[in-house]
Amino acid sequence: MSYFHLMSESSTGRFPAGFRRLDIGARREALRKTFAFSSDEWDSISCAPELFPLLDVMVESAVGCVPVPLGIADGFLIDGQEVSIPMAVEEPSVITAASFGARLVRGDGGFRSWASDPLMTAQVFLEGVTAEGEKALAGCDGQLRQELSGPLASLSRRGGGYRSFQLARLPSGTLRVDMVIDVRDALGANRLNTAAESVSPLLERISGGRRLMAILTNAAAQRLAGARFSIPVDRLARGLPVGMSGPEAARRIAAASVIAQEDPSRAVTHNKGIMNGIASLALATMNDTRAAEAAAHLWAARDGRYRGLSTYSTDGRTLSGEIELPVALASVGGSVELHPASRAALRVLGNPDARGLSRIAAALGLAQNLAAVLALVTHGIQKGHMKYHAARLAYQAGARGEEARRLAAELAASGAADLPSAQALLLDLRAQKDRS
Ligand code: MEV
Repeated sequence: MSYFHLMSESSTGRFPAGFRRLDIGARREALRKTFAFSSDEWDSISCAPELFPLLDVMVESAVGCVPVPLGIADGFLIDGQEVSIPMAVEEPSVITAASFGARLVRGDGGFRSWASDPLMTAQVFLEGVTAEGEKALAGCDGQLRQELSGPLASLSRRGGGYRSFQLARLPSGTLRVDMVIDVRDALGANRLNTAAESVSPLLERISGGRRLMAILTNAAAQRLAGARFSIPVDRLARGLPVGMSGPEAARRIAAASVIAQEDPSRAVTHNKGIMNGIASLALATMNDTRAAEAAAHLWAARDGRYRGLSTYSTDGRTLSGEIELPVALASVGGSVELHPASRAALRVLGNPDARGLSRIAAALGLAQNLAAVLALVTHGIQKGHMKYHAARLAYQAGARGEEARRLAAELAASGAADLPSAQALLLDLRAQKDRS
């Protein structure tokens, strides 16, 4: 029984102590009895029953699914290849923005992308290591390689495995041992954690210290992917506010990117826009979205100041954009391989390997960012967002299909942005229809 199981056995809560050991059907029953769900609430968390056994092995105490919308951002040209990108996201403008960014760039060769080897780092933190112990550890590369050959055997067969190690003395006095491992197409979390734990006794013997903890680092600072594009500024000219030229729009994009470099309070929103794309792709492929986010934000602060992850420049004729960041996304293993939804997403992507997937993610993040920043420095972001808000209000008011489209258009035209106005307008529309 795991540590977490032991803790949850003894814990009390809204459900009986044995809740997690019930089968998923019984757990759902207990949930339904405990809360007064409306039928649409209940239906929305009740996915196809054939998926229940899968959910049960994916997470503890599973009771259903959350149906986050899945959409496709189309029109990406990345290294000469057409790519359609599945994205799972709740925010309305994200997929449109990605496709818009892709279309802006595709006429001029699209995105160029790159990715490093998929290197991840497992860490062991040792306490009580003397200077001699540290010296002894510094020469243990061969022993480490030997010790890790078992736990990393299957990775080595696929061309991955142990690469190198280094030591760092932390201000607390703790000694950190970093072992760099090529994880090939996996995220590698289990493999790295197993490696770090299994090598710990050897490290303790050599150093005379004691292990405090052993775990991978999500920094993924050696698993980088990047993308860039260059377009004539005239590409931006269509649809600009009256009086604004393509060169001026490009100048404004570059100016906004300078602000994201110098002001962390803007950089975090700039980067949130980038991660709108990358996290949506990560979720669609059942990758670890939190790991992707954590790595990106640490990278953004790598020189001690939090900065934008992308940069733009213009010479008045062309606008160039570039991004590089850690992208730890897997194409095999874990939930990625287990869940049919992620297999479907990978199929749409053309079944890339992990490096291919990370290159797509980088291009997506840059497209997402380009579209957002262009909107911000020209019309402002709300113009587009209000259209989606009106569609949501029409839905909430009870309109569907053609009626919903009409109501949303009238709402947007009237400038009203609240539910009572949507409901009143819907009544008017229906009355008009009855009279005609
Ligand atoms: C909204 O989800 C994302 C933006 O705020 C990004 C940005 O400000 O660059 C529009």
